[in-house]
Amino acid sequence: MSENSFTLSAESLAQIEALIAQYPTKASALMPCIWVIMDEVGHVPPAGVDLLMSKLDVSRARIYEVLTFYTMFRTEPQADYTLQVCHNISCHIMGARPLIAHLEKRLGVRLGETTPDNMFALEGVECLGACGMGPCLQLGKHLYEHLTNEKVDKILESLRKGIVPTADTDRLPAGSGE
Ligand code: FES
Repeated sequence: MSENSFTLSAESLAQIEALIAQYPTKASALMPCIWVIMDEVGHVPPAGVDLLMSKLDVSRARIYEVLTFYTMFRTEPQADYTLQVCHNISCHIMGARPLIAHLEKRLGVRLGETTPDNMFALEGVECLGACGMGPCLQLGKHLYEHLTNEKVDKILESLRKGIVPTADTDRLPAGSGE
């Protein structure tokens, strides 16, 4: 999608309005509103930032502070599925390194790379706040815990069919979005 073609569906715009109404201040709805754009577009382009500024009365700087702080938010188009594996200390102890090696082998890319078909990006990230459940990986809003090579293979198999498997932290039904 080019930056000029950025439009949000009426449903997403309605979601943003509904979220704003739930919070004591418009600015408080920033993160969930970012997710609405992420869910539809896959990233937040400059026009999306403009939209958030006008809807939430927040500065451009504040929006980019949030967008660039959290590893799951993106300002550029990304692979269909960006797998972010925690390689911090607790997950490292629990086997993150061999898990990453397995993912690299399965995907045919190294950490930090994207598959040629742009389906998968593989990234190493710092603590995902699930230190007792490592090794773990994050895919958008989904956090998969206590991973093994077998579990990762099942996740990849499902994603290759276009189905995001239910993760340990999901509050929504399986396959309901990234
Ligand atoms: S070290 Fe991996 S979630 Fe904290």
